[in-house]
Amino acid sequence: MAGGDNGASAAGEGRFVQAVPREAERVRFTIDGKSAEAQAGDSLLAAILVQRPVLRRHEFDGGERAGFCLMGACQDCWVWSEAGERLRACTTPVAAGMAIVTEPPAERFAHGRAHG
Ligand code: FES
Repeated sequence: MAGGDNGASAAGEGRFVQAVPREAERVRFTIDGKSAEAQAGDSLLAAILVQRPVLRRHEFDGGERAGFCLMGACQDCWVWSEAGERLRACTTPVAAGMAIVTEPPAERFAHGRAHG
């Protein structure tokens, strides 16, 4: 896998590739404290997986997750706002200024790995 511990990768190593460019406003947001850019209207899942190969790590076994159903049914794509709100990445549109973390808040603070 091309990603590091947090699934981050160099530009162009995302799991998703935009097949057909479209005219859309660009929005800036952060993933685990790192600045990112996406097209307005994209889901958070698409916006994150264009940037990196892994969406998050599984709560129980630490396995790499990238969503499964992409339609709000499988619960495999949870991410969180920095304020602690749980978000289903595949059904939540990315928005300018979002600050997204890919570990549950309790785990982040329990391990002393809070970002940002
Ligand atoms: S990928 Fe299945 S609920 Fe989001």
